[in-house]
Amino acid sequence: MVKLIGKEVGSVGYGLMGLTWRHNPPSQEQSFTAMRTTLANGANAWNGGEIYGSPERNSLHLLNEYFTKYPEDAEKVVLSIKGGAVPGQLKPDGSKKNVQRSIDECLKQLDGKKFLDLFECARVDKDVPIEDTVSYIAEYVKAGKVGGISLSEVNANTIRKAAKVHKIAAVEAEFSLWVTDILENGVAKVCAELDIPIVAYSPLGRGFLAGKFKSYNDLPADSPLKIFPRFQPDVFDENLKLVKEVEKIAAKKGCTPGQIAIGWVIAHSGKNGLPQILPIPGATAEERVAENMKPAELSEEDMASIDAILKNFAVLGQRYHPEGMAFAEL
Ligand SMILES: NC(=O)c1ccc[n+]([C@@H]2O[C@H](COP(=O)([O-])OP(=O)(O)OC[C@H]3O[C@@H](n4cnc5c(N)ncnc54)[C@H](OP(=O)(O)O)[C@@H]3O)[C@@H](O)[C@H]2O)c1
Repeated sequence: MVKLIGKEVGSVGYGLMGLTWRHNPPSQEQSFTAMRTTLANGANAWNGGEIYGSPERNSLHLLNEYFTKYPEDAEKVVLSIKGGAVPGQLKPDGSKKNVQRSIDECLKQLDGKKFLDLFECARVDKDVPIEDTVSYIAEYVKAGKVGGISLSEVNANTIRKAAKVHKIAAVEAEFSLWVTDILENGVAKVCAELDIPIVAYSPLGRGFLAGKFKSYNDLPADSPLKIFPRFQPDVFDENLKLVKEVEKIAAKKGCTPGQIAIGWVIAHSGKNGLPQILPIPGATAEERVAENMKPAELSEEDMASIDAILKNFAVLGQRYHPEGMAFAEL
């Protein structure tokens, strides 16, 4: 069982990003159904962002509406919110003025309907020492306005520096069948050493590993994925070979490739010296949410077969486009 700021959460969490940050976000009704479905399946670690949408409509607005309708759920959910960017942009700004602006804005939108359990800056501002940025959030923790501090897209060195200033409650990092960097770059190691759980984002490879796309042409014309190097037409089919292998294992186990992808992340949690790891898949349809909350249970034999596939597979393309990679530390 994973614990965030001392509270038990289910072994799968939920990413709220797609509910407000896409060209055609789902209706409030559909979003509420998806959110309710996570709780019905014990997935009470929710991950949203001030950056997930616009200053006028993002995760915080949706959460306000949700907890107005379902106030009894406020106690159940452990809420993590990403902010700390220039308003309306993704550019990190870890200055005191902007961190305070961002947390104040999140608290204003939540309007006391839900406690802000965890706050993190979405990316590290390279112009502000991480110790300073963390100390600004720490003031809110001391004042009882925020439950804890987490980090996002950080390297091992940043985690160490931040943890000297304040207890770090979680580190959010991309981790999936096609992004295994944290196992080698020291992030998982330092998190284990400092007893920090890892929140594994994009565990379905933004849908790719769940078999959402059978070819490049399945991407809608306005899909934001079209800027990601791994989704480019010249590498798409090559990368799909990984999904085809995962599909074979899924067929043998009588589950979906998405359930294998999420189960694979969970299979690392607390094993072989690794810290607790919590995948936070995003999905907007009730059926997909329900499917993701029932990940495959993978035996050592299953894991060995998957590792053999990964060892022989070179994913083509970086995780983000160059501008995105410039903000990432991993
Ligand atoms: N810290 C960071 O920098 C960072 C970056 C990215 C994401 N995140 C967090 O991580 C969460 C999840 O990441 P993500 O949304 O990028 O990627 P993801 O969870 O890997 O994949 C989500 C995508 O997969 C599709 N999908 C979900 N379940 C499926 C299923 N069972 N079968 C087929 N397709 C399925 C979803 O479709 P529909 O939505 O159409 O249902 C959506 O397009 C986000 O919500 C956010 O909270 C954090």
